[in-house]
Amino acid sequence: MAVTPKVQERVDALRALLHHHAHRYYVLDAPELPDAEYDKLFQELQALEAVQPELLTPDSPTQRVGGQTLDGFAKVRHQVPMLSIRTETDIEASGAQAFDARVRKELGLAEDAPPVEYVAELKFDGLAINLRYENGVLVQAATRGDGEIGEDVTQNIRTIGQIPLRLPKDAPPVLEVRGEVYMGRADFDKLNEIQRAKIDAGAKNEKTFVNPRNAAAGAVRQLDPAIARQRPLSFFAYGWGEVSPADQGGPDFHSHYEALLTLRSWGFPVSARTQIAKGAPELIAFHQAVGKERDDLPFDIDGVVYKVNSFALQRQLGFVTREPRWAVAHKYPAQEQLTRVLGIDVQVGRTGKLTPVARLDPVFVGGTTVSNATLHNLFELRRKGARIGDTVVVRRAGDVIPEVVGVVAAARPAYVPNFRMPRACPVCGSAVVREKGEVNHRCSGGLFCGAQRKQAILHYAQRRALDIEGLGEKLVDQLVEGNAIKVLPDLYRMGLSALAALDRMAEKSAQNVLAALESSKQTTLPRFLYGLGVRHVGEATAKDLARHFGKLDAIMDAGVEQLLEVPDVGPIVAESIHTFFQQPHNREVVEQLRACGVHWEEGEPAARAPQPLAGKTVVLTGTLPTLSREEAKEKLEALGAKVAGSVSKKTDYVVAGAEAGSKLDKAVALGVPVLDEAGLLSLLAS
Ligand code: IVH
Repeated sequence: MAVTPKVQERVDALRALLHHHAHRYYVLDAPELPDAEYDKLFQELQALEAVQPELLTPDSPTQRVGGQTLDGFAKVRHQVPMLSIRTETDIEASGAQAFDARVRKELGLAEDAPPVEYVAELKFDGLAINLRYENGVLVQAATRGDGEIGEDVTQNIRTIGQIPLRLPKDAPPVLEVRGEVYMGRADFDKLNEIQRAKIDAGAKNEKTFVNPRNAAAGAVRQLDPAIARQRPLSFFAYGWGEVSPADQGGPDFHSHYEALLTLRSWGFPVSARTQIAKGAPELIAFHQAVGKERDDLPFDIDGVVYKVNSFALQRQLGFVTREPRWAVAHKYPAQEQLTRVLGIDVQVGRTGKLTPVARLDPVFVGGTTVSNATLHNLFELRRKGARIGDTVVVRRAGDVIPEVVGVVAAARPAYVPNFRMPRACPVCGSAVVREKGEVNHRCSGGLFCGAQRKQAILHYAQRRALDIEGLGEKLVDQLVEGNAIKVLPDLYRMGLSALAALDRMAEKSAQNVLAALESSKQTTLPRFLYGLGVRHVGEATAKDLARHFGKLDAIMDAGVEQLLEVPDVGPIVAESIHTFFQQPHNREVVEQLRACGVHWEEGEPAARAPQPLAGKTVVLTGTLPTLSREEAKEKLEALGAKVAGSVSKKTDYVVAGAEAGSKLDKAVALGVPVLDEAGLLSLLAS
């Protein structure tokens, strides 16, 4: 059959694409395409070449096993070629069935012959490494390269703590162990965090990594071993290359599983999730069980691997081109996919943080359909250069929320404007602010902002604020979602019927909540201030503010300069308080709460309030007979004392009640005066 120009054109285009993407992947460690997408192109080319073999050329990407080598590392010729395994693209149970059926057919097994024994392993998503030991010493570590020739990365591999540098006495004189170098998910997240910080600090030649595998590949092929050492890598052994024969001090294994157990006994990490599986049903069960565990594993896998256990059977099965017939990789749904950005929305989180989120052409990734993916923040978005209309790589691994990890630059449409953060909160219209040195933009709407309302109510109701018992998360969710509470003061306006009408709310508990609301109305200024949830105003700052200004109106009207006069209030906190009370709706909320009957005793400004215990540090321990720990703390702080959590030489008094523990021992040991409740009361009175 003659090759038509159309087919030739497509084949040329596929080869050019595959060359380009292989270079980005193997040489630059910066892929633009998810693996699954690359595989699709690869398989299309393979299919065309299979139908018309005259299309085949020796330099076709289909004729290579792995990648090219980087200049800068010495080349290593593998003693035993590093092969690849066939991938079963059918991700359903039938994929395992098809493999078992093929094996049985090749072995000429009758239908009623007993099941074939396999070893089922995880398919780690890292990079293959060959470790060569001579007389028990690690002498060389090499990447797979093109399967025949790899790169000498011994220096970098030596930095991986899990790889033994020396083997026990019973190891053979020559041993090549093969396995996967990978980066755990937690290590990957940490590394990217560090990379982001470096970039934010102005570093020019740094980048974040798309996924753990690329980070691992980058670290292994890092020319500077000092940098490689800072990249936390791990290793799992799953095979071997050259090994001394039995008559030259080598092992006499008969099965893959036996060999793995021996590798483990020599100190190599072999995954605990490696097991014998008999016949297709046990392969299927393994694939399904691991599929369920996949999200919880501390590292990425992209499938499982089945290997015929018996070496005799492996020999019988042999190889096709460069793949053994006795092994197969059975995949899971890809965790990265290509899709288009339809828009960029801004979501407001529970703390007011604004997150740019890419609205996507829905795509099946990591086992679910994803139509939104986070872009983290404006800086991350700019770094990636994502714009509306772009083709992007979306990743969803583990329970991590889906994220855009890369942009396919070549696929960018004609001019699209850069994304900008809105100046007003998309939920409530309040001013959007970003503090110096912070990467996140925030809505300054606080209590008024719907997105922050649930959080705000829970904060207001907590024990250390207005202390509204029974107003927990579930109830608040229902109240906000049912629109019973739009602003904080609505808490005090809802009646018994509104509460009792809610799901799973008995009239008795509704009454209890109402009673708790009623008694919360009598409070203190620090509790109320803290309860408002002004960013950066914790309990201590609320107390400082109340003490310094005495009255709420004085705080609400204070300028940044005046706020800075409060002890322990710095520019960031002052700015935050000022911005909060500048928002008319926040002032409105405060007025309405007062109108609902929330009240406290106002004091005089601090200058005139006596602070006889200023500069004294007191530690409370054990249970006092009448005062609660909170009450004792409030009384002490009202007179200027600082209440600390641990005893040191600088502690002035330790107040001890029943069942005081180590703090009392320490006070005695250090000679710090110890008071009981009566002693405390006379200190407060003096
Ligand atoms: S066995 C002859 N076992 O998947 C068999 N490979 O092409 C050689 N991989 O790049 C490979 N986990 O790095 C084998 N448990 C496992 C594996 C595994 C991950 C990688 C390997 C290679 C690719 C297979």
